[in-house]
Amino acid sequence: MLGLLGGTGPEGKGLGLRFALAGERVMIGSRQRHRAKAAAEELGCGAIGGLNSEVAAKSDPVFVTTPYQGQAETLEPLSDILSDKIVVVTVAPLKFDPSTVSAIHIDAGSAAEEVQQILPNAKVVAAFQTISAIELLNPHVRIESDVVVCSDHLDAKKSIMTLAEKIDSIRAVDAGSLVNAHYVEQITALLLNINREYKTHSSIKITGI
Ligand SMILES: NC(=O)c1ccc[n+]([C@@H]2O[C@H](COP(=O)([O-])OP(=O)(O)OC[C@H]3O[C@@H](n4cnc5c(N)ncnc54)[C@H](OP(=O)(O)O)[C@@H]3O)[C@@H](O)[C@H]2O)c1
Repeated sequence: MLGLLGGTGPEGKGLGLRFALAGERVMIGSRQRHRAKAAAEELGCGAIGGLNSEVAAKSDPVFVTTPYQGQAETLEPLSDILSDKIVVVTVAPLKFDPSTVSAIHIDAGSAAEEVQQILPNAKVVAAFQTISAIELLNPHVRIESDVVVCSDHLDAKKSIMTLAEKIDSIRAVDAGSLVNAHYVEQITALLLNINREYKTHSSIKITGI
């Protein structure tokens, strides 16, 4: 089972929809059971809903799809239950101002590295930060994009790269260890500023590999 903590928002529902359509069993998590169940029903495809703690217990891999401001609060009580599991961090810590979107400074280096500190026994993988929820939520949109994947856990990284490529035209790119996640989190701010200029959903494609 693939679980999404805070999966009731657009990114969690969008990833849940695409993975369910690819044949994965999906569990949507929330702080409130009724919200999780409603989101799972909305997705269809056999998705189920539950409290974040239930999702953490029943799923592997587990995706973090809360805002950055909620990630520590969500994950700290789940540290034991997430031991040895793959935890995929989709979070890009951003500040939205009327004139610009900027990356927030994170003492740990990145949101993903902070998650590895909170969950020292989990296999943390950073991925999907640059993939638009709006595009994920529309199954008719082909996502012509790379998902840049960073982790210190090689088997976990390969497994999430394989999973990412189950979403139509997505290509997974190995970007090395988790310390590189901050570049991906920061380029997400750049993409959102480009989106504001061009009124679109930009994404990234790495060339030369
Ligand atoms: N939106 C995008 O296009 C996009 C693209 C790439 C990556 N991301 C990343 O994906 C993550 C989710 O994005 P989103 O737009 O789906 O976010 P969101 O709608 O703001 O939040 C997702 C869910 O997180 C839970 N949540 C909200 N605040 C929380 C808190 N303080 N503590 C614990 N849980 C909280 C809520 O679920 P419950 O109330 O049901 O618990 C909410 O439905 C973000 O970190 C973002 O950087 C987003």
